[in-house]
Amino acid sequence: MFESLVKAPADPILGLADIFRADERINKINLSVGIYKDENTLTPVLNSVKKAETYLLKNEQSKTYLPIDGLATFNLATQQLIFGNDSQLIQENRVKTAQAPGGTAALRIMAEFLASKIKVKHIWVSNPTWPNHRNVFQTAGLKVKEYRYYDPKNHDINFDAFIADLNRIPQGDAVLFHGCCHNPTGIDPTLEQWQIILDIAIKKRWLPLFDLAYQGFGQGIEEDVLGVRLFANSLPELLIASSYSKNFGLYNERVGALTLIAENAEVADKAFSQVKTVIRANYSNPPSHGGNVVAYILNNPELKEEWITELTVMRQRIHRMRQLFVKTLQEKGTKQDFSFIAKQNGMFSFSGLTEQQVLTLRNDYGIYIVNSGRINVAGMTLDNMSLLCESIVNVLA
Ligand code: LMR
Repeated sequence: MFESLVKAPADPILGLADIFRADERINKINLSVGIYKDENTLTPVLNSVKKAETYLLKNEQSKTYLPIDGLATFNLATQQLIFGNDSQLIQENRVKTAQAPGGTAALRIMAEFLASKIKVKHIWVSNPTWPNHRNVFQTAGLKVKEYRYYDPKNHDINFDAFIADLNRIPQGDAVLFHGCCHNPTGIDPTLEQWQIILDIAIKKRWLPLFDLAYQGFGQGIEEDVLGVRLFANSLPELLIASSYSKNFGLYNERVGALTLIAENAEVADKAFSQVKTVIRANYSNPPSHGGNVVAYILNNPELKEEWITELTVMRQRIHRMRQLFVKTLQEKGTKQDFSFIAKQNGMFSFSGLTEQQVLTLRNDYGIYIVNSGRINVAGMTLDNMSLLCESIVNVLA
């Protein structure tokens, strides 16, 4: 039966990690997969995480199953991180959260819930978006459509086209937004723009969804969810897929969450029972370790402070690298204006490099960038900056 299968293409992002690993050049630079790197191009375990793990190792009593929706302490901490400790939504029991094995699983559960429980047919995603969005939603049976988002000429949001498209989306469709640090462009709506988008959602009555994978990597953990909070406080229904891969550095523990908001506690309860049937049919219940680590840190004020400080260090390093990248490109003699890169949010930058230029950088210089031209700024260091910028300037010449 298997002989009729053709080989699937390599994943546009994770596939590059394999090629990079096999590349024997000593000066190779990895700016592809969205993983935070420190000044030594390492991705160390955060100190706050190590402390939580030490505690858990000593105190864990059992490896019995978690509930279908995961740890209650993790789920409440997730809601508080997104909506704030005093959120009325939480007090009114309008919010339900299910711990999930990573942001991708949260998206997948969201997708199946939409497709099989409330019969949503179309989901709209930004052009461009994280390539796996299409895979996840299509595999769950939804038809994926695109709204315009990015203006490649000005390296900015194409807000007129964006809202024109949102105004054309019919009631009953679902529309996915990036809560912050848009992947791949690094360009987010301003709070005023979020308000305009929200007004369209209210008028057109399509269902907004948020992918929140980089909370804390834009401006700060509070600042990065202002758009999400605006929607959550104004709409009867919302779904949010969040990830703790990046902001806790828990990539391989697979820890994320799906959060559902409904118009009242009773509807939330019923809808969430359906979410749980989707989870049961997929992975039954989530793994415990990553969720326990996050819950322990977020519920311990001292450790939470330490985590916020560690997250701030990561965010500020990326920000410094953005500025140094723009400056070094200039010093190396680029004729193009790259100043837009310093204004973008999060780990990524949409460089404007063409696929051909990306391939030349990979083949001739050992510099790995996603084919779309997306650069992971977190992979830049003081040591590799000069070589990186020199190579880019050569390729652009
Ligand atoms: C990325 O966009 O590079 C990350 O989210 C990793 C992934 O799974 O693609």
